[in-house]
Amino acid sequence: MDGRIHVAEFDRTRGAIVHTGHCCGVLRMGVERTLKQLRRTLYGLRAFVPGWRRRHKLEAMVGPLGFWDKLQSYQLRAAIGLGLSPGSSLLDLGCGPLQGGIAFIRYLEAGHYTGVDHNPEAIQIGQEEISRLALREKKPRLFVSRSFGDEELGPSCFDFIWISQVLYYFDEPTMHRLSEMVRRRLAPDGVMVGDILGPESDRSFLRPPLPPVHTAESLDLIASEHGLRVAKLGTLADWGYPRRVGLRNNILLRVHHLK
Ligand SMILES: C[S@@+](CC[C@H](N)C(=O)[O-])C[C@H]1O[C@@H](n2cnc3c(N)ncnc32)[C@H](O)[C@@H]1O
Repeated sequence: MDGRIHVAEFDRTRGAIVHTGHCCGVLRMGVERTLKQLRRTLYGLRAFVPGWRRRHKLEAMVGPLGFWDKLQSYQLRAAIGLGLSPGSSLLDLGCGPLQGGIAFIRYLEAGHYTGVDHNPEAIQIGQEEISRLALREKKPRLFVSRSFGDEELGPSCFDFIWISQVLYYFDEPTMHRLSEMVRRRLAPDGVMVGDILGPESDRSFLRPPLPPVHTAESLDLIASEHGLRVAKLGTLADWGYPRRVGLRNNILLRVHHLK
């Protein structure tokens, strides 16, 4: 023993000891967590301020509060960095209330954006945002779907499938269903890009039952059964994700057809 006080921290959401160390380190983590909660409470007050109510509602649907603009520009910049161009056809899976979607619709040629979410409220709010921001002329398509759009999309195929902050909720059978749909709907030279939790990612927002842990390797095994290949692209922070957000350590993945 080195004479310093050692302590352990228990995470109730994970039912496990998440950190052991010297008293100062654990105290610092406790302070950081308290500051985060305080920040969340302060941001929550915006729900009562007329000019901020709508923005608060949008942010509360995707989280974390206070990062809407930064996360929106991260999504567009990362997708462009990975090959999205104005002429690409894009499928935004789990599009939510269009945090990334609005930036994609502005950037893409008319008729090139499709958003799908299984939550009807997210799609309703997305439709309202499109009207409010006068983006109807860009002819975006939005669908509520429980099949990743497969039952609603007719014969559509896509150059780019974007699945931001969604993949880690899926269990293995869902990953197989998704891969099967991607095999049929991803253009021959198209890419799907999405993120999973990394070893260092913040997991405090997850609620039981906790989803299984995925890695690039475990997803590659699933994808290969459907003629697809998964490759790691680094962390979200490497692609411009805000450094103050806990999911910056998520791993970005690129999926393409096995040649
Ligand atoms: C954290 S939000 C991310 C929203 C958006 N992709 C973004 O990054 O701004 C996750 C979204 O995925 C949607 N979602 C989760 N599982 C889904 C599924 N199986 N099919 C379609 N949408 C799903 C949720 O309804 C929610 O809108």
